[in-house]
Amino acid sequence: AYDTHIEDFDFSFEGPFGTYDQNQLQRGLQVYTEICAACHGLKFVPIRSLSEEGGPAMPEDQVRAYAEQFEVFDPEIDDFRPARPSDHFPESGLENAPDLSLMAKARAGFHGPYGLGINQFFKGIGGPEYIASLLTGYTGEEKEEAGVTLYENTAFPGGWISMAPPLWGEDVEYADGHENDLHSISEDVSAFLMWTAEPKMMARKQAGFVGVVFLTLLSVLLYLTNKRLWAPVK
Ligand code: HEM
Repeated sequence: AYDTHIEDFDFSFEGPFGTYDQNQLQRGLQVYTEICAACHGLKFVPIRSLSEEGGPAMPEDQVRAYAEQFEVFDPEIDDFRPARPSDHFPESGLENAPDLSLMAKARAGFHGPYGLGINQFFKGIGGPEYIASLLTGYTGEEKEEAGVTLYENTAFPGGWISMAPPLWGEDVEYADGHENDLHSISEDVSAFLMWTAEPKMMARKQAGFVGVVFLTLLSVLLYLTNKRLWAPVK
């Protein structure tokens, strides 16, 4: 088998206390909109979620203006109209380009050894690492197969993908002047796609933390109760 390589990127949302970086999500949205949306869709993502806390947290008027660049078909007026925040992102425009809404959870960057998933235990599943490694993993080699051009990629299983390199570095200009080399923009758009796949991650981690504190307290109380109940018997 082709030996694939996944780089272990350091994302802000890793670990039990990791959180999304709001600015990074906004930069990733820009990369997605200007580059990826030409072929891919995000049909499970409501546009209004861009203003949610814990996500890109964009002001609502900005989200409304953002939505208007997409055309959606409205059965009620039997015609196309500019999208509103209550609409979802469009689906893929290119037939064989998969929808990216859940891609960061549908792929794994880390496996093994020997089917034990030890690497996933230490590094996480690695969906966003896989996407970022895919975007930075082109070798420049291409070949023709059954009329299809395939591009060599060190992250893609099998080593040859039909997606031409979508990013080269400096493809977008960030308003905040943040670095836009290939590595940075790949990381930004991957973080954004992690958010689309798991928009409630921060709420989940917070609930989990409260749960652990609560259960710890409960076990202390149960221990003391047990001691007291059995004290006369011993
Ligand atoms: C596949 C991401 C831009 C066409 C994919 C996959 C990902 C991805 C994660 C799935 C790979 C897999 O199955 O494991 C992105 C991102 C983009 C981008 C983040 C923007 C930075 C584009 C553009 C096009 C395109 C602009 C069209 C010109 C495709 C196609 C596939 C694909 C045809 C299927 C490839 C195959 O299975 O051989 N993309 N993509 N993508 N993408 Fe993109």
